[in-house]
Amino acid sequence: MHRPLAASILVPALLAALLPGAASAATAPAGKFTATAKVSSVDEAAAQGAQIFANDTFGTKQTWVPPNAFSSHAMTCAACHTDGGKSEGTTPAGAHLPSLIGAAAKYPKFKAKKHAVYTLERQIVHCVRAGIMGKPPAYNSPEMIDLVAYLTQLSKGATMGQQFK
Ligand code: HEC
Repeated sequence: MHRPLAASILVPALLAALLPGAASAATAPAGKFTATAKVSSVDEAAAQGAQIFANDTFGTKQTWVPPNAFSSHAMTCAACHTDGGKSEGTTPAGAHLPSLIGAAAKYPKFKAKKHAVYTLERQIVHCVRAGIMGKPPAYNSPEMIDLVAYLTQLSKGATMGQQFK
């Protein structure tokens, strides 16, 4: 009994380690998510962006323990922006965040504390550095483009330009 049980645990773990792509999306561990640059629609880019949002750790070693969980999880966008950013978020430290629905339409946005105008990309870079404590994707990388596509999809129908007088 001992042997087959050990093998049944070890073989999938070994397979997952050797062939990260072999793990199904549902059981895929958080880690580096590599986006493909070639897509056939903006919806496909947004779908990849949703995967990055949920799973990419941007090389961080940071972890967090979700409410009602016993084990720690790797840090991702989803650690703070709950339900893919579609509901109100909570940082691991307990601060409340508004949902990201409609957020992309508010960019470029003036940040009074920084005396600067932030693009959506710059906000994403900020969240990767200060929130995830990882290495942000380059401004023109497929990962950045997909995140922008995903966040813009969450703003579908929102009125743009309301930040201007
Ligand atoms: C540790 C918590 C944390 C993580 C992880 C995090 N964020 Fe954020 N995010 C925040 C906080 C706090 C704010 C609001 C204040 C600020 O700008 O720092 C914010 C704001 C934002 C906004 C702007 C919302 C608005 O209405 O202007 C966007 C867009 C965003 N985050 C995207 C992301 C993306 C994409 C990721 C993953 C790459 C991510 N965040 C990871 C905490 C986090």
